[in-house]
Amino acid sequence: MKKWILLGFVTVVAGLLAVYGRDLLDLYRLLTHISTSSEARQADGGPWPRLTDACVGCHGAQGNSLHQGYPSLAGQPAPYLAAQLRHFASGERANPNMGPLALSLSEADIQLLSEYFAKHPAAQNGSFKPDPALQEKGKKLVASGGCAACHGEGLMGHDQFPRLAGQGHDYLLAQLNAFALGHRKDPSGAMTAIVTTLSADDRKALAHYLAALAPVAK
Ligand code: HEC
Ligand code: HEC
Repeated sequence: MKKWILLGFVTVVAGLLAVYGRDLLDLYRLLTHISTSSEARQADGGPWPRLTDACVGCHGAQGNSLHQGYPSLAGQPAPYLAAQLRHFASGERANPNMGPLALSLSEADIQLLSEYFAKHPAAQNGSFKPDPALQEKGKKLVASGGCAACHGEGLMGHDQFPRLAGQGHDYLLAQLNAFALGHRKDPSGAMTAIVTTLSADDRKALAHYLAALAPVAK
C-alpha cells in the first residue's frame, strides 16, 4: 500500500514539474538575476535611493560627463572633490547650480560622493575636436608653466590638485578665465598667480590641449 502512495506522490510531482518546471526555472533565474544585479548596484553606489543619482544629469554616468561645459568628476582625487563641495556650500566658490545642492549635503554625504567619483576611472573626452595649432601651443605652455609639478604626472591630479587631462573644454576655459578675472580663488592663491602670466589666447590654447589629453590609468 505504502508503495502505491509513494508512486502516486512521485507521479504527481513529476506531473507538476512537467507543467510548471519551466516557470520554476524562470523564477529561479529571475531571482538570481535580481540578487546579482543588486549586488553590483551595492558595489557601485549602494542601494536605491542613491545620492549619486542626483549628479548623473549634469556630471554623466559614474562622473564621466558628456557635456564640455559640465566637469567630469570621475577619477578626481577625493580630497579635491570634498574641498570643492565644501567651498560651494560656504559660497567661497560661487555657482548657482552647485551652491544650493552642496548646502543640502551632510559631511558624511560629501565623503561618500567624493570617494564614489574618485574610484571611477576617467574616460577619454571623445567628443571634443581640438584645433591642432592651439593644441600644440597649449602643450608648450603646459611644459613652460610647470603645470605637472602640481597637477601630477600626466596631469591626472592628486590630493588637492585636480585632474586636468580629458576634462571638458568649455569647463576648463571657463575656470581659467574665472581665475584670471578673480571670480574663482583657490585657497593657496597658486592658480591666481599662474593665470596672471597667461593671455586670453594662452588660456584658449591650454583648454584645447588639456581637453584632448587622454587620461592615463592610475
Ligand atoms: C544642474 C546641474 C548639476 C547637478 C545636478 C550637479 N552639478 Fe556639480 N557642477 C555643475 C556645474 C555647472 C559645475 C561647474 C561649476 C563652476 O563652473 O564653477 C559643477 C561642479 C561640480 C564640482 C567641482 C568640479 C571641479 O572639477 O572643480 C563638484 C565636485 C560637483 N559639481 C559635484 C557634484 C555632485 C556630487 C553632484 C550630485 C550630488 C552634482 N555636482 C550635481 C552642475 C551640476
Ligand atoms: C603651485 C601649484 C599649481 C600649479 C603650478 C598649477 N596649478 Fe592649476 N590648480 C592648483 C590648485 C591647488 C587647484 C585647485 C584650486 C582650488 O582648490 O580651487 C588648481 C586648479 C586648476 C584648474 C581648475 C580645475 C577644475 O577642475 O576646476 C585648472 C583648469 C588649472 N588648475 C590649470 C592649470 C594649468 C593650465 C597650469 C599650468 C599652466 C596649472 N594649473 C598649474 C595648483 C596649481
